[in-house]
Amino acid sequence: MNKVQVAQISVPEDWVDFGIGQPQVGILPIEELEKASHHRFQQKDRNILQYGMQQGNGSFRISLAQFLSAQYGKTVEPDHLLITAGISQALDMICALKTNPGDTVIVEEPSYFLALRIFADYKLNVIGTPIDENGIIIEALKENIEKHKPVFVYTIPVFHNPSGATLSHRRREELVGLSEEYDFFLVADEVYQLLNYTITPPKPMSYYDTPGRVLSLGSFSKILAPGLRLGWIQAKPDLLEPFIVCGYLDSGGGLNPLISSIVNSMLELGLQKSYLGFLKKTYHERMVTLCSALRQYVPSLEFMDPSGGYFIWSCLPEGADSESLLAAAGKHKVGFQPGIKFSWSNGLRNYLRFCFAYYGNKDLLKGVERLAQVIG
Ligand SMILES: Cc1ncc(COP(=O)(O)O)c(C=O)c1O
Repeated sequence: MNKVQVAQISVPEDWVDFGIGQPQVGILPIEELEKASHHRFQQKDRNILQYGMQQGNGSFRISLAQFLSAQYGKTVEPDHLLITAGISQALDMICALKTNPGDTVIVEEPSYFLALRIFADYKLNVIGTPIDENGIIIEALKENIEKHKPVFVYTIPVFHNPSGATLSHRRREELVGLSEEYDFFLVADEVYQLLNYTITPPKPMSYYDTPGRVLSLGSFSKILAPGLRLGWIQAKPDLLEPFIVCGYLDSGGGLNPLISSIVNSMLELGLQKSYLGFLKKTYHERMVTLCSALRQYVPSLEFMDPSGGYFIWSCLPEGADSESLLAAAGKHKVGFQPGIKFSWSNGLRNYLRFCFAYYGNKDLLKGVERLAQVIG
């Protein structure tokens, strides 16, 4: 009988697949969540098993707002938070409620390839706009906005997937300014905001949002566990309103009330804070390991050391084709993500993305040794 698959991705044990952008299974916080569950269940509050408040459990939103305020060094209001089932679900809901088939959305080139899948589900017309090491290039974006008149711009403004870039303070102000001038809204996917290693990034995009046009998306997937399916949207109440009153939440109630209650205990007991500290230290070490090994053993790859997040975004000289290298790498049981996946227009063929979160240092080194036999 075939082995029963329980997780989204199953990698053969003797492979090192740098393409997987997920946390390492072995460091997921099962003991902490066990403690938090016990803490919550022993309170015998049966409301946690009831349909939840549409916007998300009020007590959880207060704890989350306190945690985020401490992390950001700036106040987050519980009323500015809507609890979601993660960023993917938030993106789906935004498309469902705010777009019509054929509407244009602008994404970064490169962008998170699975967000592109969600936009395709809603039959949106996707247009790419270039970025550099400081995020979206404002002049090029302005031209694209004038030409294509988007409903929204989807940006990953911090420790970008895949490029690692962080949008500068000035460009954040300019971007929000454009959203007002040209009447569109901004979807800021800030999934890596709290995973900073060598810099303190600018505050989340919602802090720049004087006109009320920013939906800042956060998630517990990368700071706790993706299996929780829990996240939030931070935005001004007027912008949140259509989501809170939508039919989906009216019928099913707020999202993941039971899991919210358990994560509330993680926050109350300080377990989320200590686990995040552990993750930042662990990922920082892995990032250093992978960067220095790639520089030493695969010198033809060019890249900048990321200052947070999960990924190293590297390139080979123009003309190289990372997809065909991937097939060759597979023979050595090593993988990565080819750049073409992150492109709205099938470009970026000479780029490769490596994740340093899924494996420990020993396996990262083993993977680089294998890669060196293919790329060098
Ligand atoms: C940029 C980006 N957005 C969203 C997600 C998925 O987030 P969630 O698990 O909260 O749906 C990921 C996961 O890799 C990501 O890299």
